[in-house]
Amino acid sequence: MRSDANIAGPMADPVPGPRPADTDPGADPGPLAAGEAVSRETPSPPMPRPDQTRVMVVANQKGGVGKTTTTVNLAASLALHGNRVLVIDLDPQGNASTALGIDHHADVPSIYDVLIDSRKLSDVVQPVRDVEGLFCAPATIDLAGAEIELVSLVARESRLDRAIQAYEQPLDYILIDCPPSLGLLTVNALVAGAEVLIPIQCEYYALEGLGQLLRNVELVKGHLNPKLHVSTILLTMYDGRTRLASQVADEVRTHFGHEVLRTSIPRSVRISEAPSYGQTVLTYDPGSSGALSYLEAAREIALRGIGVRYDGSKAHMVGRQPQQDQHSMSEGLQ
Ligand SMILES: Nc1ncnc2c1ncn2[C@@H]1O[C@H](COP(=O)(O)OP(=O)(O)OP(=O)(O)O)[C@@H](O)[C@H]1O
Ligand SMILES: [Mg+2]
Repeated sequence: MRSDANIAGPMADPVPGPRPADTDPGADPGPLAAGEAVSRETPSPPMPRPDQTRVMVVANQKGGVGKTTTTVNLAASLALHGNRVLVIDLDPQGNASTALGIDHHADVPSIYDVLIDSRKLSDVVQPVRDVEGLFCAPATIDLAGAEIELVSLVARESRLDRAIQAYEQPLDYILIDCPPSLGLLTVNALVAGAEVLIPIQCEYYALEGLGQLLRNVELVKGHLNPKLHVSTILLTMYDGRTRLASQVADEVRTHFGHEVLRTSIPRSVRISEAPSYGQTVLTYDPGSSGALSYLEAAREIALRGIGVRYDGSKAHMVGRQPQQDQHSMSEGLQ
């Protein structure tokens, strides 16, 4: 499962450089012609590949906060920059599979077969059309019964972890899209991953319920997976026109400090349209503010992985940050 990373080295950026992430959604300029997109190109820092596979669990038990959107668009951003990326769809809704244009009707071999019937992960993984280096293990409707079926199985919390460990293809990233619950599917993801990525929607009640998620992360860390930690918080659906959005963003940054990515994702019509075409916004409208924001967030994640912090205009080498005490992070949260 180890990555053959850093062979290729940093990749040149084929899409336009950063625009401010928190753009007014009303200002989303719509699709750019290919030539127009290229003419806006500015030099961007590279998106280096990690020297080991990074397994990131995209979780928040609150529904509709942008977990799936974040999973597929970060995955596409990383893959378009030379990374080999696997998306594992762990939500019975199968939204990540849909957004990646992956067939996931009831008869398709899926992550359900891996979890319940011990099928090999490589038997269910499909390549994503249009994005080289991007793969998906789809979810079918069968997965809806898995929470209950898992209960009576041996090693019920670590079945996904075992499947990933046995996967032999070289990968730079595995992104796991969790359902909006803290049941056994999410626990399987937390046991399999080292990093938790929490998307937070910039709305009222954004922090509600996060304390429970952080306590679960602590429990899994304490009993089943010592390497687990919250590495990344991403603010989603940021609407620069509202004071509420900036208040929520301030509050999240106060609570979580350096885990919060500098880039936030604006509310964007293009982002919400892309899944209905079986595409990520990166291929649907590469010049849109939504695509550029996800690209920028992916770059931050990639640079942080090698100990570099990127402030938008320059990159700083920093020591790898000590893992913040999860208890102190959850203080004050409900
Ligand atoms: N930045 C954005 N701008 C506009 N719409 C967005 C944005 N991010 C997500 N959405 C839309 O918000 C809805 C919820 O997003 P998404 O499905 O990614 O959330 P989720 O957390 O995965 O939901 P669930 O908990 O049901 O799995 C979707 O319709 C999606 O298209
Ligand atoms: Mg989802």
